[in-house]
Amino acid sequence: MKKLIYGNFKMNSTLLDIEKYTETFIPKVSLSKNEIAIFPPFTYLMFAKQKLTSSKILLGAQNVSSESKGAFTGEVSAQMLKSVGVDIVLIGHSERRKLFLEKNEIINKKIKEALSLGLKVVLCVGETKSERLNNRYTEVIQKEISEGLKGLYENELKNIIIAYEPIWSIGTGVVPEVKQIEEVVKIIKTEISNEYSLNASKNAKILYGGSVNAINAKSFASIPGIGGLLVGGASLNPEEFAKICNI
Ligand code: PGA
Repeated sequence: MKKLIYGNFKMNSTLLDIEKYTETFIPKVSLSKNEIAIFPPFTYLMFAKQKLTSSKILLGAQNVSSESKGAFTGEVSAQMLKSVGVDIVLIGHSERRKLFLEKNEIINKKIKEALSLGLKVVLCVGETKSERLNNRYTEVIQKEISEGLKGLYENELKNIIIAYEPIWSIGTGVVPEVKQIEEVVKIIKTEISNEYSLNASKNAKILYGGSVNAINAKSFASIPGIGGLLVGGASLNPEEFAKICNI
């Protein structure tokens, strides 16, 4: 079955890197049946779009403003992203939550902005190490979903993908056990079923992210209920990311 394989470059790469990257990467994934997206920094989006036009690869942005336009120095709106050909946007990544103090309320506004412009959204959720150790992960994930999706209609969920990224696994090489991921898939599905319907929960698209690489990708992607992967560090290497995309 088709998987969604998304690469988050974070704050890495120069323009030249993006040029070399796309030249190596695009031909290597041209036969992949999976849905592939790359999320370069804002400054390279237009350039990346030009490079990707001959392929099926989607273009993603790593963030979006919660405001639509006006005096918000340094912000980038959903409309701006749409106008340069962005297809999909990451919202609520743990680095935004932790380092830039983004709360669920702002994340909810960002999601609504993005959806109103027809962008797809990847909503990232996940617990810290201490929340996991103190058995608080269920309530944290439930809250991130219920507050993140607050006020959205069920028919809008088709444009939302939920990425489970345990924060203790991001960039650490420490990965959860399969049964821990399976449990969180259930938590996410139950939350969606409680907030919406059983049908919405069945259709929910859930990704796993956190220290995914070419060696472990297949085992994560095969977990029941996992529809794909959100890859950070390993997506910076076009050869490695192509291997992940071709699983
Ligand atoms: P990682 O990052 O693959 O480098 O752990 C994942 C992410 O932050 O999305």
